[in-house]
Parts: sequence; structure tokens; C-alpha cells
Amino acid sequence: MNDLTHTISELMVQNRRTSGVYTYTVPSLTSYPYQWFWDSCFHAIILSHLDTKMAENELRALVAHQYKNGFIAHVTYWEHHHVLPVEWGLPNTSSLIQPPLIAYATKRVFEATKDTTFLEELYPSLKRYYEYLLRERDIRGVGLVGIVNPDESGEDNSPRFDRDLGIPSKHHIKEHYVRRTDLFADHRECGFNATCTSRSFWVEDVPMNAFLVWNLTCMSELAYTLGKKRDSNKFLASATKVKEAMRTHMFKNGQFWSLGGHDHAAITTKTLAPFMPLIAGLYTQQEAAILIEEHLLNPDTFWLPNGVPTTAVTDPAFDPEESDWGEPWQHPTWRGPIWMSMHWFLFHGLRAYGYTDIATELRQKSLALIEQSGFAEYYHPHTGDGMGTKDFTWGGLVLDMDEST
Ligand code: GLC
Repeated sequence: MNDLTHTISELMVQNRRTSGVYTYTVPSLTSYPYQWFWDSCFHAIILSHLDTKMAENELRALVAHQYKNGFIAHVTYWEHHHVLPVEWGLPNTSSLIQPPLIAYATKRVFEATKDTTFLEELYPSLKRYYEYLLRERDIRGVGLVGIVNPDESGEDNSPRFDRDLGIPSKHHIKEHYVRRTDLFADHRECGFNATCTSRSFWVEDVPMNAFLVWNLTCMSELAYTLGKKRDSNKFLASATKVKEAMRTHMFKNGQFWSLGGHDHAAITTKTLAPFMPLIAGLYTQQEAAILIEEHLLNPDTFWLPNGVPTTAVTDPAFDPEESDWGEPWQHPTWRGPIWMSMHWFLFHGLRAYGYTDIATELRQKSLALIEQSGFAEYYHPHTGDGMGTKDFTWGGLVLDMDEST
């Protein structure tokens, strides 16, 4: 084990928590003392390099609070702390979703262990979860799933959602947070019915749908491995449906754009969203070449010496600084800083289209950020300084940004 792997391993052990028979990992000890959905998927992938039994346990804990209708929440409150004391209206969980990466995470853990018993155990929960998303979140019936709150994207205050929140690109973070908490209440009063909550907020987001296509394809593969041919075909057909709907409704001028509001109008704010379909293989090679060479590699917008910012430097909403918020916990920001998960998605997306040298450059930039500023929650795009909370787990994803993965 080299020094970096050793440090990441220690961080993952330090952030590990046990509750009864369940073991899971908290993203940070102070700011995020619960289990978060896409974080746990990242944790399982990181742990598949370090401790495969723990990787399996992470996913077991993630499905432990699944509801009868298949819903799995974005936060599971195994313990209650003063952080995020929201009246969700559900016992010990939030009422929101997060990017549906659990099929891919399971696939990666299974590839590391070949433990079919584990796969058999988890499969029914995964099946119910993806069926829930397709049934409850495609409210227009066109094949696209939507989100009822910016938090569901995992990119909480991304400027991509400003227009549909009815908020200007420059605002106080408190104002943003109040809008989102009002939406928590709306969702609760709507009895968690997305059609009802969509009257207040509804975005058919590009990353969410791209991740869904990718994960439904993984579901098809997992079902096939277990000899469930009918399920396998069904999941593949669902993946194709979402993929075709993305082409029909979201693709314009060479890129996929999220859709918002009642008229489902394209959201053209310059964030990393149009790059996320690379990981799902949704662009042709020629489209990907233009997207990567003209947009991602542009040093004036996204390709900075320290890495790739979440919002383009030229976008009016770009703000690389920490939000001054006055609460005991730091509000995370996706309006400019670099987040390690985004580097990881881009790394694999670039490699899928043969851009291995650029992917390697991104890996080196990621390692340099950790070297300079440790395991920060996010990094200042111009200085590389660590921001947000410390001892944050996502830096561990560099273990999975390997030339061989
Ligand atoms: C912040 C991030 C979100 C993450 C959570 C826990 O809210 O924006 O993506 O899941 O923290 O780390």
C-alpha cells in the first residue's frame, strides 16, 4: 500500500460508523454526520479498492431504510445530531433522492468480489429502487426523470437551478437555502408526490438522466449475471427509452441541456452538466470531440491549471468564494469551486471516448489538489486552496482514477 492509499484507508476508517448490524461511512465527521446516498455509492467504489467486505456493508446499509414503494432517501439519519434538523415528514430519512449511482457502485463491488450471494441479496432492493424512479419521477411520461429540489441533483446551489428557483444569479446563500427548505415543506405537504411538488419546482436534469441511463444499463448487466433474462431486457429497454428521450428533448447545438419550468425550456447556464453524458456514452465520437476540445479544454471557461470548476469562469453566476452564511456549519457551494466527484465523472467520461492523456492530466491535477490542500470538501478553482469541511471522503475517488480502471 503506498502512502496515499494508506491515508485514504485511514480516512475511510475514521469516518466509519456502526449502528446495530449496519456499518456505513459519513462524508465528514462534523458537517455530514449521517449516511448520504451518492456519497455512499462513492464510498463503495473507493472501498472496492481497500476493503471489499466494508464496500458490501456500505451498500447494505444504504438500502436498509428503503421504503415499500422502492424509494431510498438521500440522507439516512442513523443518529441525530444538530446538523440538518429538517422536518422531512418521514422516520429517520429525508424525502429526497440523489443521483442514482447504486447500480454502478454494486457492479464495481461485485467485480471486485465475484460474490454472487451478495448480488442476490442486494438485487431486489435495486430493482425496486429503479422501478420507483421510472414510475414516480417521469411525470410527463416522455421518458425523462425530474427533480423536485436542487438538492436532488447533489449539486445543491448550482446556478443551473437559479431560474427555476426564481432567484437572481447573485444572491445571499441564505435566500437560496430558504427557497430550498420551502420546497422540502411543499414535498411533505404533497405527500411526496412528485407531480404535486412539481408545481413549485421541476427540473429534468441532464446529469440525473444520464446517470440513470448508465445505471439502468448496469442493472441490465447485473440481472443477466443472475440469470434474470426478462429483467435484463426490461432494464435495457428502459435505458434506451431514457436515452432516446434525452436526444429528442434535451439535445441542441451539440450539447444536452437540462429542462426547467412548465414549458420545459432549456437551461443554458454554463455548468458541468453537458459533460456528464460522456460517462453514459450518449454523444457520438464526433460530438464528443467538439464538446471536449472546444468546451472542456477551453482555458477561459473550464480547463484551469488546478482542475475543472463546477461553473464556467465566464458564467455570470461564477463565484469561486465560500459563501458567508453565519451558521455554525459551512454551506457547500457548487457555483465555481472544484469538486472531486466531478473530476471522477470527467476522468471516466474522457477515457470512454479515448481521451486518455487528458484524463491522466485531470488525475494529476486531482492528486496535486490533495497534495496541496488535503481531503477538502471542495477546492478554490484559482488557488487550489481547500474549502468547505475537512477530512471529506470524496478525495478517495482518486484511487479509482487509475490508468487501468
Ligand atoms: C453536500 C453536497 C452533496 C453531498 C452532501 C454530503 O450537501 O452538495 O452533494 O451529498 O453534502 O456530502
